[in-house]
Amino acid sequence: MEERIVSGEADVQDFSFEQSLRPQTLKQYIGQDKVKENLDIFIQAAKQREETLDHVLLYGPPGLGKTTLAAIIANEMGVNIRTTSGPAIERPGDLAAILTALEPGDVLFIDEIHRLSRSIEEVLYPAMEDFCLDIVIGKGASARSVRLDLPPFTLVGATTRAGSISAPLRDRFGVLARLEYYQEEQLKLIVMRTSDLFEIEIDSQAASEIARRSRGTPRIANRLLRRVRDYAQVRGDGAIHSDLAIEALELLQVDRLGLDHIDHKLLKGIIEKFRGGPVGLETVAATIGEEALTIEDVYEPYLLQIGFLQRTPRGRIVTDLVYRHFHMEVPKD
Ligand code: ADE
Repeated sequence: MEERIVSGEADVQDFSFEQSLRPQTLKQYIGQDKVKENLDIFIQAAKQREETLDHVLLYGPPGLGKTTLAAIIANEMGVNIRTTSGPAIERPGDLAAILTALEPGDVLFIDEIHRLSRSIEEVLYPAMEDFCLDIVIGKGASARSVRLDLPPFTLVGATTRAGSISAPLRDRFGVLARLEYYQEEQLKLIVMRTSDLFEIEIDSQAASEIARRSRGTPRIANRLLRRVRDYAQVRGDGAIHSDLAIEALELLQVDRLGLDHIDHKLLKGIIEKFRGGPVGLETVAATIGEEALTIEDVYEPYLLQIGFLQRTPRGRIVTDLVYRHFHMEVPKD
């Protein structure tokens, strides 16, 4: 898969950048108002009762702030956060080591929780439900199971694929929170906030230009801002105004809606080779030389979200919006 500036997945530079700008409280966190309001109530209630917060599952597309929210939850509860991920926990013993090292009340954050294996999930069930571990000691006839008490903790799980989580695991979360793509106005506030923190001089219209092309995703907004800042430094005097932002974004080949050359190749491929569809996913994949799964997981979600693509039982169809976006004549049928 090619590198894309408009991918919601984190790259190496994103990690350190995001760390330094992470909002610390629900108040500082922009957008996701319903999720924030609900979490605020659950957190206050748990604190008043002096209990741990119920387990929380955060799900939604990459780059929307699931990790940030997990850290905020821990901060608002006044506890530590331990972070790991589904693929990092290979053996039941790995999870047992993490769980037994928790302090009472801690948040355990498991990113990509849909990638936990079945055998690990089974260790997690009694841990989530009863705060205990069932460990098997010995082998064969002399094997016996020992129950170990754990400190009470809150599991915060994050996933981009809620559908891939097994039902027994999903049912053990008391709070399910779906993160939505951000509105342009909210992304603009995020761009302004980041600029403030990094002392980047930017005007309101330039912030809007970046926000509009960020595919509803703060991580992309912040990444575009970094690239536009580079452009302003080298080609301008460092300040970002809207003409300069547009020039920089055009050079990056990110169009007015945040579509890049791969989106263009996909959409134009369907129009030019299949008269707009319907066309099967596998055929699209072969035509543009990408894996079907990558198209489905990475390229399509935003195109579906903005109504450029439809998934039908007979295959993918591009909508009239795409023809208009490319200044092409809309076919009559
Ligand atoms: N930076 C990235 N995402 C953010 C958000 N939702 N609120 C504030 N700052 C952010």
